[in-house]
Amino acid sequence: MEGSGVQRTTQSPRKILKWAGSKSNVSSQLKQFLTFDRPYIEPFCGSAAFYFERLPSKSALNDLNSHLIDCYRSIRDDPLQVWKYYDELEVSEENYYKVRANFNRISKSHLKSSLFLFLNHYCFNGIYRTNKSGLFNTPYGAREKVKKKFSTEDFKYFSASLQTTELHSEDFESFLDNLAPTDSCIYMDPPYFTVEGRVFNEYDAKTFLAKDLARLHTVATKLAADNIVVISYKNCSEFRDLFERYLAAPITVTRNVGGFAGRRKSETELIAVLGG
Ligand SMILES: C[S@@+](CC[C@H](N)C(=O)[O-])C[C@H]1O[C@@H](n2cnc3c(N)ncnc32)[C@H](O)[C@@H]1O
Repeated sequence: MEGSGVQRTTQSPRKILKWAGSKSNVSSQLKQFLTFDRPYIEPFCGSAAFYFERLPSKSALNDLNSHLIDCYRSIRDDPLQVWKYYDELEVSEENYYKVRANFNRISKSHLKSSLFLFLNHYCFNGIYRTNKSGLFNTPYGAREKVKKKFSTEDFKYFSASLQTTELHSEDFESFLDNLAPTDSCIYMDPPYFTVEGRVFNEYDAKTFLAKDLARLHTVATKLAADNIVVISYKNCSEFRDLFERYLAAPITVTRNVGGFAGRRKSETELIAVLGG
């Protein structure tokens, strides 16, 4: 894990993607628990809010969503080609649905990554929702506020920012088993699980379940022998019971209720800190 050497300035764009559950709006509350002077590892990276904010010199990012990781790889490897495809796409509801159909049809390529980025920017609340066949089906969401497109300079900046981080796409447990980190800071921000099921699933057909939270507990306690492990999670009895010994001060997050626009509420998220 080598350093990128890229320096953020006040002009630098913050992050490439808008992502449900992104931690960008709570970074001031969370960063007290994290350290960036060790290798920094995010097994559930999503939009990697902290990575892009701090650009740690040694890092590894992982997410089960392979389209997301392919998008980072494409921007890292060929930013101008990805920008060109992305910039050509007209922002309108009609075109959004054409792009969505094309994204679901074509295979992995820089073009597919550009479509992923466009859909992420103009979909409803940055939600990556799929149907039972695994096809992306989040509706258009840019009716009221159309996001300004990123420039070539922004793409070059993101490409430079991603040059030396390791990018992986697999389940968090196998990612961490293979990486076998030591003396690292591992920040885990898994999806919430719901016993009652979701009206509007935020990430994928494959929901994060209670058994996955138990797996996370086993993995985290093992890693804590040689690393700092920080986990943020919904304030629920399942998390409190598993991580009781490690709970730090809670933080306040604002979330969309059921993924629906205009229905935002503040809630408490728990932080567990293991190892050190
Ligand atoms: C709450 S989001 C992370 C948000 C991130 N902290 C940010 O700043 O954008 C949770 C992420 O975990 C990913 N995910 C879900 N199940 C996973 C698994 N079993 N292993 C790895 N990643 C998973 C989802 O695709 C999603 O991007």
